[in-house]
Amino acid sequence: MHANQGRIIAVANEKGGVGKTVTVINLGGALAMEQKKVLIVDMDPQANATKGLGVEVEENKPTTYDIISNDTPHTAADAIVHTPWEGLDLIPSSVDLSGAEIELVDEQGRENRLKEALADIKGAYDFILLDTPPSLSLMTVNVLAFAIEVLVPCQTHPYAFEALDELFDTIDMVRAEINPDIHVSGVLATFYDKRTRISRMILDKLKSDERYKDLLFDTVIRTNTTIAESAGVGRPVVFYRKSSYGAGDYKNLARELLARS
Ligand SMILES: Nc1ncnc2c1ncn2[C@@H]1O[C@H](COP(=O)(O)OP(=O)(O)OP(=O)(O)O)[C@@H](O)[C@H]1O
Ligand SMILES: [Mg+2]
Repeated sequence: MHANQGRIIAVANEKGGVGKTVTVINLGGALAMEQKKVLIVDMDPQANATKGLGVEVEENKPTTYDIISNDTPHTAADAIVHTPWEGLDLIPSSVDLSGAEIELVDEQGRENRLKEALADIKGAYDFILLDTPPSLSLMTVNVLAFAIEVLVPCQTHPYAFEALDELFDTIDMVRAEINPDIHVSGVLATFYDKRTRISRMILDKLKSDERYKDLLFDTVIRTNTTIAESAGVGRPVVFYRKSSYGAGDYKNLARELLARS
């Protein structure tokens, strides 16, 4: 058992399709490759992180829904799935999770369910990476109530850049109201394609923007079809095609994150 000093990182952006899930899966894989103990928590009812790790949720197997709902006796420890990759564990999600929103609507302290559920197991991991849906739903609020760091993937596309301010304001609000420790610890440029002028322009804007420049990772995630392909076959790209750009970019991100501590 490790000392209770693991890093708890939410990967969040209210904008959809910016690379949140792929970052959770592949950063998780790359950190496990660096001998870290990693828990991925899938808090998106779409369950893309679960599928992207090749995990099929069997009937009666507990998921993130069970650990935040009132109705089941399952603990977070019951819900942990060991992936085929050493050091990489998952608490899977399922579509049931979308029901928790309505079910808990009148519950006091509903935003702290995940934090309470993971209190007993968090000390066993070096990293807990939390995948969130593209909305400020109860799931996302539960993640932000528990996490200390937020890693924000930003697609190198104009609309994604414009949406960043809103996300930062959301985090400020969560810090004021729910979780005084939370802060954005990194902005990650994704879907970068140096051949397109728009990609280069947005990366330059991120590098020069007062609010983001110090948070921006030097590592940039390039558009690489192998990343999408590996998610499709349920394997982190670092284990699927070690020599791909995608694997290289996520390995560099893991090293940079370790160095930033
Ligand atoms: N660097 C990349 N190169 C190529 N394809 C990518 C890359 N990153 C992500 N993708 C693909 O783009 C799609 C969106 O990525 P992803 O699912 O990670 O985004 P998301 O932010 O989690 O989306 P959502 O908001 O719906 O949860 C997926 O099909 C994924 O496989
Ligand atoms: Mg996703």
